[in-house]
Amino acid sequence: MKRKVLSTILAISMVATMVVGCGGGSTQTEAPAAEAPADDAAEASGDSAQAEAPAPVAADQEGGKIGVAMPTQSSERWIKDGGNMKEKLEALGYEVDLQYAEDDVQMQVSQIENMIASGAQCLVIASIDSGALVNVEAQAKEAGIPIIAYDRLLMDTDAVSYYASFDNEGVGTAIGEYIKTAKDLDAAQAAGESYTIEFFMGSPDDNNAVLLHRGVMGVLQPYLDDGTLVCKTGRTSFQDTCILRWSQETAQQWCENYLTGFYADEDLDIACTAFDGFAYGVKAALQGAGYTADNWPVVTGQDAELMACKNILDGTQTATIFKDTSLLADKCVTMVEAVMKGAEPEINDTTTYDNNVVVVPSYLCTPVAVDKDNLQAVVVDEANYYTAEELGL
Ligand code: BGC
Repeated sequence: MKRKVLSTILAISMVATMVVGCGGGSTQTEAPAAEAPADDAAEASGDSAQAEAPAPVAADQEGGKIGVAMPTQSSERWIKDGGNMKEKLEALGYEVDLQYAEDDVQMQVSQIENMIASGAQCLVIASIDSGALVNVEAQAKEAGIPIIAYDRLLMDTDAVSYYASFDNEGVGTAIGEYIKTAKDLDAAQAAGESYTIEFFMGSPDDNNAVLLHRGVMGVLQPYLDDGTLVCKTGRTSFQDTCILRWSQETAQQWCENYLTGFYADEDLDIACTAFDGFAYGVKAALQGAGYTADNWPVVTGQDAELMACKNILDGTQTATIFKDTSLLADKCVTMVEAVMKGAEPEINDTTTYDNNVVVVPSYLCTPVAVDKDNLQAVVVDEANYYTAEELGL
């Protein structure tokens, strides 16, 4: 009886926390309701035009100024992205104005306005909340400044020329497949066994997060439907599992609340998280709740951050998705060259990324799931992303 009352109180406070997590940060611009995934929206409207290749900005001129707007330095991947872009563009003779907005939407708008005012000839934007950038993107277009969307699609604008990213639904599929194999869900299904699972998904203002959730569910939904996977909070939809601005703190808080409110009598077997930062929050919550190596759940992530790789090696995170940001920067630089000089950009997708106004020609790099078995081979030996020393190998 007592336990039931306590669980109810915890569940109520948890829902309150989740509303804060998903619906609106204290000082940040409110996140809009989760957007329909780009291609669903396309199917619905059926009228998005194909983005046209822009005329080169400065075909006969060397160099030029490129504005690079990045979302935050609070997560390692964006520091690497910004560093790579700056280095590669400078090596080609461009002047680079690299700005980070620390997940402050208005700060990113101002930074882009300043880039336009100070004579940038091309903008590369990894958005925080792309819905908030529509006006400043229109200003850029009016000033004849082409825009390239970096990693996150810029929604609801015709001012974007190209998009460089990873296969974002593929990231979700890789996470789902990893869980399916790690827990041998088909064998569990055949034996009538089940595993508990909770979901920690990305920011509702980031189109990537919507696609990732769709990829995860493409693999795991059948196992949820037949009871092989049991989500005791019942929170499986994107709406219910999205975490505003990819906040590690919110993920930790949710996980703490889940463990106390729903997993007092039974262990959590799988924490399906969409981001290494979430995996750190989940790790802290699990440690706080007394989990050890004996009952540690499968914990997924994304980005192969250095700390995540170290956690994988020590067993407190199970897997991550490796996305080679240097490769992404290479592809993006070919797009900058295309809009600046009329060169041919590398494109491998002209149908998927409909931003509700145009279908943006894209290059999608391939994400790779890594765990302790292939970490060294993929991340160190093949990609040279970290050295063996950095990983303590
Ligand atoms: C990126 C992920 C990243 C996340 C949080 C997403 O848009 O695609 O790689 O983990 O943002 O920064």
